[in-house]
Amino acid sequence: MISKLALATLLPALAAALPCVQFDASRNLYAFGGEQDVSLGASSAWSSPSPKPLSSEGRPPWNGNYSQCLLSQNSNAMYVLGADSSDASWSKQVTTGAPDVLQNSRSASILDHNTNVIYTVGPANMVSLDFGAVTNTAAGALAWQVVGTPQIASQNYRVTAAAASNHINYYGVPGTPAGSTNMFVVHYSYWQPQPAAYTAVGGRNFPAQSGQAVSLLTPNSTLPPYQNLFVPDDFSGAYIVTHYTADWSWNDTRSAPMAVNLINSTQALPAPTAQDKEASYACSDTDCVQIDTQGNIYYINAVGKDYTIAPGATWQKLDYTLKPYVAPTTSSGPNALSAPTGTGNAAASSGASQASATPAGNSGAQSTHRGGVLGAMLAVAALAIASIA
Ligand SMILES: *[C@@H]1O[C@H](CO)[C@@H](O)[C@H](O)[C@H]1NC(C)=O
Ligand SMILES: *[C@@H]1O[C@H](CO)[C@@H](O)[C@H](O)[C@H]1NC(C)=O
Ligand SMILES: *[C@@H]1O[C@H](CO)[C@@H](O)[C@H](O)[C@H]1NC(C)=O
Ligand SMILES: *[C@@H]1O[C@H](CO)[C@@H](O)[C@H](O)[C@H]1NC(C)=O
Repeated sequence: MISKLALATLLPALAAALPCVQFDASRNLYAFGGEQDVSLGASSAWSSPSPKPLSSEGRPPWNGNYSQCLLSQNSNAMYVLGADSSDASWSKQVTTGAPDVLQNSRSASILDHNTNVIYTVGPANMVSLDFGAVTNTAAGALAWQVVGTPQIASQNYRVTAAAASNHINYYGVPGTPAGSTNMFVVHYSYWQPQPAAYTAVGGRNFPAQSGQAVSLLTPNSTLPPYQNLFVPDDFSGAYIVTHYTADWSWNDTRSAPMAVNLINSTQALPAPTAQDKEASYACSDTDCVQIDTQGNIYYINAVGKDYTIAPGATWQKLDYTLKPYVAPTTSSGPNALSAPTGTGNAAASSGASQASATPAGNSGAQSTHRGGVLGAMLAVAALAIASIA
């Protein structure tokens, strides 16, 4: 079981929903955002899938261009950014102070494993939203906080972020060389001055490109992710990037759970079959899954428990396609969404002042009805009520 939380953001309605895949803390796979949401079970069941529909009660309309599904491993909940929200079992929550433009890609945000804080880089600021004390829905509003001016700017960068060892790797930042990322140290709220360099182990390194990136879970759930799947937009491959630093010392590798030669390394896997830049990805500790925008699902047994890639691993197509969902365009009203959108052109420049004014104020969010607020409403949904056998 997993509970779901949708963040309604200021994103214009789409004709067709962008689906996503995600695991629960027990490594069961789900696909969301199709005509229905389904549970696909553990990897042992994927070779002959028997999808189980989840309750659709109150699920978000999946009408964002950049929807992103983040697993909170500790609360076994999924947070959905950019899916808007509706009602009922997807319980919802008000947030305040979201910037006009919350994210510009499907890999813009990460959820820190240890603190349950979302970080995202927008045009003007890095902002965060703290779910540390939230198990289902918080009674009041949660405020987006300004973390500061990022070292990277998203104006000319389609943000491609994934967490590893409580740091955030930003892939494909303009000017940063291939095989390197710009790096934010979450628990010290600090940008490393120099890019972090990764050494290719037995294969190619990753190119200097944006794309999609997600974390792999760690076999020991109390530990944060140490590996990312990075799929660059040129589809030259799929890359397993391993980053490790001990919390207490940047150079102490004695407690590393992987072989020393894998610390700060890149291992190359074959490129995904579907070369769809808006596909979404999720990984357990051993398997990575892609769902493309047509609902086709592919999976690969990416790494073993020892963090090395499985020799000869290939992407397999799941014998089940999530039927695309066409979002109704009338219900929540184009006007509700177009008010924020109208300010969209100014968002890049007004974002800073608006966001920095936030922590104090509740501007906008409270007066809202669903779908109408500037990136300000969240919906929490308990998949717990869905009928999963
Ligand atoms: C969202 O996607 C639609 C369809 O591709 C496009 O027309 C629209 O401009 C996009 N909106 C934004 C804000 O990117
Ligand atoms: C791994 O990368 C991090 C971040 O750049 C760095 O602090 C650490 O020293 C590196 N570890 C090793 C063993 O090179
Ligand atoms: C998981 O990691 C924690 C923290 O390092 C450690 O205390 C625990 O023993 C580990 N559990 C297993 C099963 O290895
Ligand atoms: C880490 O660096 C410090 C200072 O440079 C040094 O004293 C220490 O021995 C190093 N530790 C390891 C495990 O290499």
